[in-house]
Amino acid sequence: MPFDEPGAPEVLRKVLDDGSFQASADPEILSRADAVVVVIGTPIDKHLNPEALEVPGEIAKLTPHFADGQLLVLRSTLYPGVTSMVERQLAAAGRRIDVAFCPERIAEGKAMVELFSLPQLVSGRSEEARSRAAKLFRNLTAEIVELTPEEAELAKLFTNTWRYIKFATANQLFMIANDFGLDYSKIRDALAHDYPRAQDLPGAGLAAGPCLLKDTMQLAAFNNNQFTLGHSAMLINEGLPLYTVAKLEERFQLGDLTVGILGMAFKAESDDIRSSLSYRLKRILAFKAKRVLCTDPYVAVDPDLVPLDQVLEQSDLLVIGAPHQEYRQLQTQLPVVDLTNLRGQGSLV
Ligand SMILES: NC(=O)c1ccc[n+]([C@@H]2O[C@H](COP(=O)([O-])OP(=O)(O)OC[C@H]3O[C@@H](n4cnc5c(N)ncnc54)[C@H](O)[C@@H]3O)[C@@H](O)[C@H]2O)c1
Repeated sequence: MPFDEPGAPEVLRKVLDDGSFQASADPEILSRADAVVVVIGTPIDKHLNPEALEVPGEIAKLTPHFADGQLLVLRSTLYPGVTSMVERQLAAAGRRIDVAFCPERIAEGKAMVELFSLPQLVSGRSEEARSRAAKLFRNLTAEIVELTPEEAELAKLFTNTWRYIKFATANQLFMIANDFGLDYSKIRDALAHDYPRAQDLPGAGLAAGPCLLKDTMQLAAFNNNQFTLGHSAMLINEGLPLYTVAKLEERFQLGDLTVGILGMAFKAESDDIRSSLSYRLKRILAFKAKRVLCTDPYVAVDPDLVPLDQVLEQSDLLVIGAPHQEYRQLQTQLPVVDLTNLRGQGSLV
């Protein structure tokens, strides 16, 4: 598994041992499958533009290896219209392949639970494509929800955009409370206490990762860049590290201090650093502070990380990036910036 996925290594070992799973970089294996599931990455570029032609381009390369009568399931999050483009492309190549778009909605780190618990969105232009895809996914989950491909493409983007905007709402409310000298998490806990309509108001914190921002920007691009809420959410979420450092500058002589960042992954209990805002925080602090030290118990891919003990020993100030549970009870006399209020002592900024 590329990232830590609890419960997956055991299953992987089992299917490797019993021979039911084979991995290969040889596209020739495609011709032997009843169904081909495509999960290649669908990123945005550094100017926030969707790479919409990537999936059709990869499918074009693989088309000679497909067998007529196969089911092709597009599972990546797609820019709206890509399913239709793939259908047209295969038809133009004279291939008879049932195309379905069935977006993945699991949260990283919860795959082995959510693969079986979440309803599956299934879409296909033809009844045949839909029913074949539904049959495939019934191996995982009993509940299938059918949509047209275009509805399913928007459904997936709406899912991630909604979550991203909710985080931005929390982060903006955090900044309002904080600028007024009040503790957002205390206010949030109070207003949500036994009040069902506010249960989904998130806590504040660095909201990043490989999906939420890029999918919000895909939706914005699809809507001719007319997406005020989505763009505002980006400015708020991506702006939180800069806000945090600006607030610290009001309190501390940052240029004289070594700052330790605890948690470099994009979210708690994860080893995935893709699009993590802890790295934006690091970049800003590298410019403003005397020195920055970073640590994360889960992340093994970054050679610049140092052990927690060294960070505690050599830092003057700590900032929690990813709110890993390890940091909840951490014993330290140092001031700790804690946007999510993991430690229950306020944010400090
Ligand atoms: N990671 C998640 O938990 C998650 C959850 C829901 C949806 N998604 C969506 O799933 C898709 C994949 O996400 P990811 O996080 O795994 O992306 P990723 O970029 O980390 O991984 C994609 C993988 O596909 C491989 N790949 C690219 N082109 C290929 C080709 N032609 N043949 C074979 N392999 C190829 C890449 O090498 C890479 O290993 C995205 O559209 C994402 O939005 C991801």
